[in-house]
Amino acid sequence: EIAFYNDSFVDINAKVVPIQERAHQFGDGIYEVIRVYNGRPFYMDEHLHRLQKSAEAIELQLPYTLNQIENLCLEGLERSTLKEAEIYIQISRGIYTRQHHFPEPSCAVFTMTIKNARVIPENKRVNGMKVLTTEDDRWKNCYIKSLNLLPNVMAKQKAKVNGCDEAVFHDDGIVKEGSSTNVFTVKNGILHTYPALNGILHGITRSIVLKLASETGIEVVEEPFNLDFLYEADEVFITSTSMEVMPVSQVDEIEFSTVRPVTDKLIEQFQALKD
Ligand code: PDD
Repeated sequence: EIAFYNDSFVDINAKVVPIQERAHQFGDGIYEVIRVYNGRPFYMDEHLHRLQKSAEAIELQLPYTLNQIENLCLEGLERSTLKEAEIYIQISRGIYTRQHHFPEPSCAVFTMTIKNARVIPENKRVNGMKVLTTEDDRWKNCYIKSLNLLPNVMAKQKAKVNGCDEAVFHDDGIVKEGSSTNVFTVKNGILHTYPALNGILHGITRSIVLKLASETGIEVVEEPFNLDFLYEADEVFITSTSMEVMPVSQVDEIEFSTVRPVTDKLIEQFQALKD
């Protein structure tokens, strides 16, 4: 496992972040999580382009070109010698005198860690995860992959203490996304998910799943749906870089069948993309 901070590779446990780093004083920055399968980063271009989109949205000048970032990832991966890994990239607005406005001149800082991938328990993939729903109290720009994750942290903890694996945000009853995942339902063979508006993260796994579905002739509807629609779904699953396509067995008090033809088909197709 290895890390990178402000122009150099460092030990994963090195104490390198200065006190006045805006990432930890303000959460002023953006990030990406990229999965590595068998030594190869998965959908790296898509992650890097989303990073650029997040940077533009918060008026942050990236300290490196996307090409340089890609090369740093590849170099880090080689140094780490890991094959099944998770690359975490973070860009903060840099080190300054704790004033809210942007540092002048700009001085963004690139951070990276490359660690062993979190293992997804096989029983979860088979039996599915339990989720609870919770009011979405986040800001309106969740399409930005910002470091400000306090509502997500609170929601995930609420899930954990209630014996669940994930919390699903709803906004006045409209189902948005999970605390670190996108949410899909299947009803009468049709796949439903919240549209790629500013209120959710436009997940890379989400777009992979939508593409796989259309290629397979599964009808897709990207329109808002409410909690009742979620409870009455035939199948529910969540997606993310680390969870991939993950079946859901229970939402609040409602249990779902383990017969889930559409979810299983998408899981199978997703697995095939890794080779
Ligand atoms: N989470 N929605 C939110 C709020 C997320 O934080 C994530 C990703 C997703 C799924 O996006 P993707 O398919 O691009 O990973 C949806 C990452 C993995 C994390 O914070 O660890």
